Amino acid sequence: MRFAKIISVVPKCKLLAEVGCDHARLTETALANGLTESAIVSDISEKCLAKARRTLRNYTDVTYIAGDGVVTDGRQPDCIIICGMGGHTIADILSRYNGNATLVLSPQSHAEIVRRKLYEMGYALSVDECFEDGGKFYDLLRAEKGRAVPDETQIYYGIFYKVENPALKKRLNRMLLNLYGDKDKNSARISEIEEVLKWQQ
Ligand SMILES: C[S@@+](CC[C@H](N)C(=O)[O-])C[C@H]1O[C@@H](n2cnc3c(N)ncnc32)[C@H](O)[C@@H]1O
Repeated sequence: MRFAKIISVVPKCKLLAEVGCDHARLTETALANGLTESAIVSDISEKCLAKARRTLRNYTDVTYIAGDGVVTDGRQPDCIIICGMGGHTIADILSRYNGNATLVLSPQSHAEIVRRKLYEMGYALSVDECFEDGGKFYDLLRAEKGRAVPDETQIYYGIFYKVENPALKKRLNRMLLNLYGDKDKNSARISEIEEVLKWQQ
């Protein structure tokens, strides 16, 4: 379900790049759905790239590159997918990228760092959604070049935190339960989350 959910926000493109592809199941899903004509898959690990080669063995127009961050063969992808890494790693990769591709990102943690980085890079979020799969919560972001000035609540809880989303509500309620364990220490965070939850009734 996670692969299909992420790929559902990928636009139709000529060249798709997946950074940190590992088994490349995301790119496989995009290719199987006819979303791209060709793909570049890359990973910092040669071992992971070998897994990608196995997954995509039936697709001919795929380029495999071992490297750190967004690495290409000179072509500019129109969409770049970076998923399944922590927010710090994704933000670091983005800080070394200066193209204009649509970005589809799913940080495993610290989505706020990624949102802030996108804002600094002159990107605006058109998708910013929390979803649940297998009992885990994920953030899914899609950003295009554009002007946007998110406030701090949007940076931490998502650009669209005012839009009802059962997964976001469930995640925030779970966070509250943990924070209630030390109400004095966590009082500021608790009030913040309670404010956001008012939009999720
Ligand atoms: C958990 S896997 C995610 C695989 C896939 N993107 C997904 O979401 O299903 C993370 C992958 O990112 C790769 N990776 C970590 N840091 C990287 C970097 N700086 N540049 C490229 N790949 C990186 C790892 O080697 C690993 O294969």
